Amino acid sequence: MVKWLLLVILTVVEAKLNDQHDVCPEQIFLSNKSSAQKWIPDKMNAIIEKNNSSKSNTISQTLKFSHLKSVNDITDDLYYAMPPLFQLDDYDACLGRNGTFCLGSFHLSAPNDNQLYRLLQWVSSNTRYRFNHTQLHRGVCLSTSCLNVSNTPMSPKQQFQQCVNNITRSQYGLEASMLRLDYCKDAQTPPSVPRDVADDIFLALFIALLAANVLGTMYDIFRDKTNKGNQLLLSWSLISNYKNFTHIYPNEDTIVSRFNSIHGIKSFILLLIMMAHSAVAIHMAYIYNPKAQESMGRQPALMILMNGSQGVQPFFVLSSFIFVHNFLLLDERYKKRSPFLIFFVLLLRRIARILPLYMFMVGFTATWSRFISDGTMWIPIMEKEAQLCRMKWWSHALFIHNFYRPDDRCLIQTWFIAVDMQLYALSIVLAIALTRWTKVVIKIIPLFFLVTILCNFVAAYTFNLKASLYLSHPEYLKKLHYGMPSFKWMYAAPWASLPASLLGIATAYLYYEMRNNKIDLFKYKWFKIVYRASVPGFFGWIYAGYFLPDEPSRLVSAFYAAFDRPITCIIFCIVLLGFIYRIDNIYWRMASWSGWQLLGRMSLCVLTVHWTFNLMQIALQTNVNEVSVLRNLGHWLVTVLMTYLTSIPLHLLVEMPVQKFLRASLGI
Ligand SMILES: *[C@@H]1O[C@H](CO)[C@@H](O)[C@H](O)[C@H]1NC(C)=O
Ligand SMILES: *[C@@H]1O[C@H](CO)[C@@H](O)[C@H](O)[C@H]1NC(C)=O
Ligand SMILES: *[C@@H]1O[C@H](CO)[C@@H](O)[C@H](O)[C@H]1NC(C)=O
Ligand SMILES: *[C@@H]1O[C@H](CO)[C@@H](O)[C@H](O)[C@H]1NC(C)=O
Ligand SMILES: *[C@@H]1O[C@H](CO)[C@@H](O)[C@H](O)[C@H]1NC(C)=O
Ligand SMILES: *[C@@H]1O[C@H](CO)[C@@H](O)[C@H](O)[C@H]1NC(C)=O
Ligand SMILES: *[C@@H]1O[C@H](CO)[C@@H](O)[C@H](O)[C@H]1NC(C)=O
Repeated sequence: MVKWLLLVILTVVEAKLNDQHDVCPEQIFLSNKSSAQKWIPDKMNAIIEKNNSSKSNTISQTLKFSHLKSVNDITDDLYYAMPPLFQLDDYDACLGRNGTFCLGSFHLSAPNDNQLYRLLQWVSSNTRYRFNHTQLHRGVCLSTSCLNVSNTPMSPKQQFQQCVNNITRSQYGLEASMLRLDYCKDAQTPPSVPRDVADDIFLALFIALLAANVLGTMYDIFRDKTNKGNQLLLSWSLISNYKNFTHIYPNEDTIVSRFNSIHGIKSFILLLIMMAHSAVAIHMAYIYNPKAQESMGRQPALMILMNGSQGVQPFFVLSSFIFVHNFLLLDERYKKRSPFLIFFVLLLRRIARILPLYMFMVGFTATWSRFISDGTMWIPIMEKEAQLCRMKWWSHALFIHNFYRPDDRCLIQTWFIAVDMQLYALSIVLAIALTRWTKVVIKIIPLFFLVTILCNFVAAYTFNLKASLYLSHPEYLKKLHYGMPSFKWMYAAPWASLPASLLGIATAYLYYEMRNNKIDLFKYKWFKIVYRASVPGFFGWIYAGYFLPDEPSRLVSAFYAAFDRPITCIIFCIVLLGFIYRIDNIYWRMASWSGWQLLGRMSLCVLTVHWTFNLMQIALQTNVNEVSVLRNLGHWLVTVLMTYLTSIPLHLLVEMPVQKFLRASLGI
C-alpha cells in the first residue's frame, strides 16, 4: 500500500517536473510536423529588432521567442510588444460630453505570416495561467478616440468596429473583428429594462415586510407581558429577534455546546469562499496590468484560491450531519408516523428557512439592483444578472435552477442552495429508512458512497469533466464558466456533492451510536493522532493540487475529479468528530469563539449577498483596474465588510421573522 502510494507520488512529482505543456512555438505553427525543425535553445535574450522601413509607416518588428523554454519565461520586452488586452476610455467624461461609449471584445487575426500574431497565439496557448491574448477588450468613446469615423453615417456598432480595427491595424498590423458587443450607449440611452411592474411588486413586498416588522415590534412593546401573546405577530418583533440573534451559547461541556464549533467552521469557510469569489470576480474586470494577474496564478501560496472550491463540501457534510443527528434524537413516536408526512413536514420546514431570504435576494437582483449605480461594466454585469434573474426566478423558487438553463446564471453561488435542497430531500428519505431498517441501510450507505464515486469517475472520464482545480483558468473565470460542461455537470451537479451528503449521514449515525454506547473518542490514542493530522491535512489536501500536472492525462484528471471532494470530506468528518469530542485545546476553542455564533447565524445571508458585492465592485469601474495582492485583498475585505453590514438587517428583518411566521402559521 505504502509502496503504491509512493509510486503515485513519484509519478506525479515527475510529471510536474517534466511539465512541458508549453508547446514549442515552432511546433504550433508548422503544420507539417515532419518538417518541423528541431528547436535548439540558445542563451540569447529575446530581442525585438526594429527595421526602418520606408515603404509604410507601420513598424516592422522581428520577434525572437523560439528559444524561450516556456511561456512563463516571457520577457517584458515581448510581453509589452503585444497589444494591451484591456483598454478603456474615460466613461464619465465621455457620457458627460454627450459622447457615445461602446464596450466590446475583438478577435485578432493576421493577414499573413505575422510574428506578432504567432507570439499572441503562443502566449495564449498556455490557458492554465494566461488570458487569451488573441482577443482584445475595448471600451471606446467614439466621439473622442475615433474622430475619423465618428462623422460617417454608420451605426455606432460599425463605427466601433472600424475604429478599433483601424487602430490595431496601424499600430500592430493586425486585423480586429468584433467578437462581442456589450453595448453602445450615450447619456440619453434609456436602461435596457426600464422600471416595470416587477419592480413595483418587489417594492410593495419590501414595504409590507418593513410594516410587518414595525407592527410586530409595536405589539411586542405594548402587549400584556403576562400572557403568551400572538405568536404570528410576535414573530415579527425586532426585539425578540434581536435577542435571539445576539444570544450566545456558552462553551460549557454539554451535548449542545459541543456543536458550537460548527458556527466557527461555517463562518471561517464562508470567509474563504468570499476570498475565492473576489479572486474570480477580478478576472471579469478590465485590468490595467493583466501580467500581474497572470503571474499571481502561479504563486504556490494562492493554491488555496485555485483549488479551494472543494471547501464548500463541508457545508454539505454539515447540512446532512446536523439534520440526521437531530432526526435520530427525535421522539420515537414521531418517527413512527407516516413517512410521507414526516418527509413533507421536514422538507417544508427547511424550505421555510431557506426560501424567504433567498427569494428576497433573487427578487432584489432581478429588480432594483440594476438601478443602484453605473459604470463601464454595469450593463454586462449587473443588468445582465438582473435579466437572467427575471428569466430564471421560478426555477430558483423550485430549487431546480442548476438544471434549467444551467448556463444562464443568476447569482452563480446559489447552485449550492439548489444542490443542498436536492440532497436534503434525499437525506430525509435515507434518515427515515435508517430508523426503520437500520441494519440494512447502514450497509447500503457505504455502498452507495462508493458507487457514486465510481459513477462520477466514469462520467468524468467519458465526458472529460474536470475537477475544480482545472476550472480556475483565467479565461474560464473571466466568462464564469459559461458553457463549460465541467461546471454544469460536475461542479454544480448534485451527484458530485452526494458523497459529502452521504458521509454526513454516516458520521451522524456513527456519533449517535458512539453516544448510545458511551464510547468516548477522547480516550482513543489512535484517533487523537489521526485528528491532529486532519486539520493541517484538510489544507494539505487542497495544496496538494499544486503537485498535479498542469495538463493531466484524461485518466488522472477523471480520477482527481471523482476523488478530490470525497477525500476532502473524509478529512473534514475527522475534524468534525475531533471538534465535537474536544480532542485538543486549540482548534475547537478557536472555532467555538462566541463571535462566530453571530456570524454563523448569518451564513445564509452571507452566502446569498456576498456575490453581489463582488460583482458590484467590478461593475462600478470607470477605468481599468490595477491588480496586486494588496488590491485583491482590499476587494475581499470590502466584500466581507459590506456583506456582514447588509446581512445584519437582512437577517433581523427578513430571514428570521419570515421563517418564524411561516413556521407558526403552517404549524410546522
Ligand atoms: C512534409 O515535409 C516533407 C519533407 O520536408 C515532404 O516530403 C512532405 O511532402 C510534406 N508534407 C506536406 C503535407 O506538405
Ligand atoms: C531587418 O533588417 C535586417 C538587416 O538589415 C534583415 O536581415 C532582416 O530580415 C530585416 N527584418 C525584417 C522583418 O525586415
Ligand atoms: C533607423 O533610421 C535612423 C535614421 O534614419 C537611424 O538613425 C537608425 O540607426 C536606424 N535604425 C536601424 C535599426 O537601422
Ligand atoms: C446630445 O446629443 C443629442 C442627440 O445626439 C442632442 O439631442 C442633445 O441636445 C445633445 N446634448 C448636448 C448637451 O449637446
Ligand atoms: C482565443 O480566442 C479565440 C477566439 O477569439 C479562439 O479562436 C482561440 O481558440 C482562443 N485561444 C485559446 C488558446 O483558447
Ligand atoms: C485619422 O485621419 C488622419 C488623416 O485624415 C490620419 O492622419 C490619422 O492617422 C487617422 N487616425 C486614425 C486613428 O486612423
Ligand atoms: C478604416 O478602415 C477602413 C477600411 O479599410 C477605411 O475605409 C477607412 O478609411 C479607415 N478609416 C480611417 C480613419 O483610417
